[in-house]
Amino acid sequence: MTPANLVTPVREEDVIVRPMTTADVGAIIDLQMAFLEGSIVTRLGKPFLAAFHHAALGHPSTRAFVATDADGKLGGFAVASVDVAAFNSHTKRRVLWPLVQALLTPRGMRLMWRFARSLVEPDPEPYMPAELLLLVVDARYRRRGLGQQLLAAIEQAFARDGVSRYRVAVRSQLAVARAFYLATGFEAEQELFVLGRPMTYLIKRVAR
Ligand SMILES: CC(C)(COP(=O)(O)OP(=O)(O)OC[C@H]1O[C@@H](n2cnc3c(N)ncnc32)[C@H](O)[C@@H]1OP(=O)(O)O)[C@@H](O)C(=O)NCCC(=O)NCCS
Repeated sequence: MTPANLVTPVREEDVIVRPMTTADVGAIIDLQMAFLEGSIVTRLGKPFLAAFHHAALGHPSTRAFVATDADGKLGGFAVASVDVAAFNSHTKRRVLWPLVQALLTPRGMRLMWRFARSLVEPDPEPYMPAELLLLVVDARYRRRGLGQQLLAAIEQAFARDGVSRYRVAVRSQLAVARAFYLATGFEAEQELFVLGRPMTYLIKRVAR
């Protein structure tokens, strides 16, 4: 957990939105593997995802929140960064070995060419430091405003950091996610190939 994540938990109806901690990582991975469709990185499996989330929580640019019910059961989570270049350089070093191990499994072998291609795939331009990296809500709790509440927590943190706009990448085939982002104030920006598949980028201004 980073100092910028130390905010008072937000309670709205029976949903509590609070900063993510390392104790949440196991439940977050279960949620991610069950409900984040279309994510090639998620298919790398639990040890890789655990390394990623621990590395993410260890970086000062990370802003991460979970939504729980009153009993603490996790319903969703969001991970963002206010300095994605520094975040990537920090996490890439820490997930390299788990990535190699994941790619050497029979399942990982089938993903290997995608990761090889990613070495020559372009990044979105212009560079934008703030990015929403992950947003997942348990399918049983959807359309109850959890996604919006997690986004609001990220944007409150962004506003405190002086972020004026940020980007999100979403797999182009995920119509629900694109509908969610368009409904919550994002504008479609561009489409690029990432790990060999189309990715739509959207941007949003942060209210001050
Ligand atoms: C995208 C996602 C996070 C939305 O979470 P959610 O908690 O259901 O979203 P909310 O209830 O806050 O919805 C806010 C608005 O988004 C739009 N929206 C959400 N789901 C929608 C759907 N299935 N179809 C059309 N519009 C939708 C609506 O306008 C909705 O407002 P309304 O319910 O008052 O009509 C969730 O569907 C999810 O986890 N999907 C799988 C993971 C994923 O694709 N994440 C994004 C890529 S990282």
